[in-house]
Amino acid sequence: MTRSVSLAPGIGISDVSVDRGTSKLDSLVRPLANWLQDNHMSALGIANTMRLAHSYNRMKFGRHDDSRREVYQTQLAELLNENGRLTRPPMEMRDGWALDASNSLPHLDRILEDSEKIIADRSGVRRSKGGAYRSYFQDVWTPGDLVKYPSFLDFATSSDILSVVSRFLGSIPVLSTTLPSGIRFVESNSAFDDRPDQPHDSQLFHIDYYSLPNVYVLVLLRDTTVEHGPWTFLPRGVSQKTRKALNYWSRQRGYRVTDEEVYSVADRKDVIEFCYPRGTVLFIESSGCFHFGSRNSVKPRFQLMIGYSGACRTDFSETIMAPKVYPVHDTDSRLRQMVLDKSRLL
Ligand SMILES: [Fe+2]
Repeated sequence: MTRSVSLAPGIGISDVSVDRGTSKLDSLVRPLANWLQDNHMSALGIANTMRLAHSYNRMKFGRHDDSRREVYQTQLAELLNENGRLTRPPMEMRDGWALDASNSLPHLDRILEDSEKIIADRSGVRRSKGGAYRSYFQDVWTPGDLVKYPSFLDFATSSDILSVVSRFLGSIPVLSTTLPSGIRFVESNSAFDDRPDQPHDSQLFHIDYYSLPNVYVLVLLRDTTVEHGPWTFLPRGVSQKTRKALNYWSRQRGYRVTDEEVYSVADRKDVIEFCYPRGTVLFIESSGCFHFGSRNSVKPRFQLMIGYSGACRTDFSETIMAPKVYPVHDTDSRLRQMVLDKSRLL
C-alpha cells in the first residue's frame, strides 16, 4: 500500500510503502505488549519476553525474514553491485565487532561536513525538557534531516557498510524504525547530567534486547577521548560468559549491571573504549556485547549511531510505537529499498 508521508513541513515523500496488514492484530495485542515491554521487560524478565516477542514477530514477519535470508544467500553480490561497487573487501565482525579507522568510507567526508553544520546549529543546549532518564544524552536528529542532509542515508545504505552488516546478520538488514532509532545524532554532555558523579541508565553495563542480533554502526563525529565518555564495551565472547555467570536477562535481574558485578566475572583489561579520531567507524553487535557510554562526558561527545536489525525483532516496539518512515524512491537500488523499508521484498 502506498501513501504520502510528510517528513517535515513542505517535504513530502509520495512512494513510501506502508504495511497496514497487521494493524488490527497489533491493536488487540498492544495493551499486553505494553505491559510486557514496560520497564525493560521487567514483568516476565528480558529473556522470556524476548522469546514471546520473537514468536509474535515471527508470525507477522516470518515471510519477510525467510525471504531476506534467502536473498542474502543467493543474491547479495548482485544487489551490492547494483547498489554501488565495494571500495574494499568487506570486514568481518570478529567477536562481535570491527573497526574501520581508514577515514575513507564512501560518503563519510560528506557526513563529517554536514555534522559540523548540525553541531554548530544545535549543540550545547539541552533541547528536551524531558525527565531525568538519560538526561546526559540527547539525540538532535530531526526527521527533516533525512532530506536536508542525504549524506547520512547514503552512508547508511552504502555497499561498504551493508556488506559488513549483512554478513553478520546473515540477512538483508533493516534500518530500525523503532528501537533504537535507525539514525541518531547524539550529543553526550555531563552538563546536562542530573547525576554526573553516579553512573546510571545507559551509563551502566547492559546488553540490548531489541533485536537478536542488533548491529550498530557508530561514527565519531569529533575526536573522542576518555573525557568524552566513550562508548565502552566487552567483546562478544567475554560478554556472553559474563551474561551466563550473572544469569543476566533472567527475571531475577535488572537490565543495568554495575561495574562491580561485571568485573566479578570479566577482566577489566578486556574492556575496549571507542576512543579514536573523528571519522572512525565501529561496527558492533549491541545485542551480544555488554556496553555502556556517555559516562561523565566532561567534554561533549558527538557520535552518529545507525541501528540495523533483521526482519524479526525480539521486542514489541513495532507493536507499541509509531514506526519512523524513511524516504524510498523507485530510482533507489533494490538493496537500498529493502534496507529502508522492511515490507519490500524482491
Ligand atoms: Fe545499549
